[in-house]
Amino acid sequence: MVSEFILRGHVLSFTGSPFTVPHPEEATQICAALAISQGKVVGTGTFEQMQALLPEAGVIDHGDKLIVAGFVDAHVHYPQTAMIASWGKRLIDWLNTYTFPEEMRFGDAAYAQEISERYLDLSAANGTTTVCSFATIHPESVNAFFTAAQARGQRVVAGKTCMDRNAPDGLRDTPQSAYDDSKALIERWHGVDRIEYAITPRFSPTSTPDQLAALGALWAEHPTCLMQTHLSEQLDEIEWVKTLFPQARDYLDTYEAFGLLGARGLYGHAIHLEERERHRLRELDAGLVHCPTSNTFIGSGLFDMQGLMADGHRIGLATDTGGGSSFSMLRTMAAAYEVGQLRGHPLHAAQLIWLATQGSARAMRMQDKIGNIAADMEADLVVLDLASTPAIAQRSACAADLWEALFPTIMMGDDRAIAEVWINGQRQ
Ligand code: GUN
Ligand code: ZN
Repeated sequence: MVSEFILRGHVLSFTGSPFTVPHPEEATQICAALAISQGKVVGTGTFEQMQALLPEAGVIDHGDKLIVAGFVDAHVHYPQTAMIASWGKRLIDWLNTYTFPEEMRFGDAAYAQEISERYLDLSAANGTTTVCSFATIHPESVNAFFTAAQARGQRVVAGKTCMDRNAPDGLRDTPQSAYDDSKALIERWHGVDRIEYAITPRFSPTSTPDQLAALGALWAEHPTCLMQTHLSEQLDEIEWVKTLFPQARDYLDTYEAFGLLGARGLYGHAIHLEERERHRLRELDAGLVHCPTSNTFIGSGLFDMQGLMADGHRIGLATDTGGGSSFSMLRTMAAAYEVGQLRGHPLHAAQLIWLATQGSARAMRMQDKIGNIAADMEADLVVLDLASTPAIAQRSACAADLWEALFPTIMMGDDRAIAEVWINGQRQ
């Protein structure tokens, strides 16, 4: 199998964060080519420079297309694939009506395998090369997902979702079984090929203090794992958390008190944060995950991107499939733009692409491996057609610069804009 390639096109890399420079585009660099060898990027530059690096490489010319790092979706529920876009409920009713009955089916390994493959097909078709997914309470659901991702050479993170209360019969574990099952999965999968395990308490309403404590202990024993959960998504949910944990200072404290707050923690949504929570999350440099299509679809609220970025938070972007209404990170960037507008802060195209690549990779603590195109990074790439439909083509045709040419694809693009996807140095 040929494993050396030179890709020509407009190759977009980040040299810094477009949230910390006066002009976002100053944090980027555009080259004419990149070189791939043995699953890794070995350089970017002119075509001649790449030819000098890899004289035997196969050359693929993408013309005017834009080559960016593969999209990194930092919070999804792959088991919710088949019930995406379910109508009319807010968070707790939505979970009880649509989500839990569907998640119940994942005790069946064959079904878990079918949906794992379906989910990875759909997300890759939309340019997503890495995801951080919740599974269900069933270990089979984790095994199925990791097996499917491993066969595709994908870098993924997932974990068994732990719940021992406020969930229906058949969808509850216990503090001990959550600990034991998660530990066995860590031992089997964490660090195998490109797979990492995330310890996964669903959210504090569905875990007893005993279960949260057991998972906090497990995280202390396996500190290289990520820990993923939900935080302050809806106001009703926050009120419920207060009644379930009367001693807690706030929602975050229901995690903090049990050892579930740290730098490798990923907190999905994080919309309605109190000052202490913001301060503590920043102090520990924990990861926050913005899920804008979900937050509008389930009616949760408007994430404070501008304020949290200004305070130096580590923020990723995610679809939250199937609370989110799309598998596409392009659609998710569009929603992040719209939420920013509703809060008075339009995000620049460079900031949106950064969030969907570097931002998510940083939140998942993988920024030295994925989320950018640079020497030594793993070769996960997306080739974007900036004229994928007549409506987009006529707008990008009169763009003054690359950013104006890209923005219509962010706002109106779908899987037709994904010209090619590369995973681990292999064209899909
Ligand atoms: N909070 C707890 N579980 C979930 C879930 O599955 N989706 C979303 N959006 N929020 C949650
Ligand atoms: Zn979620």
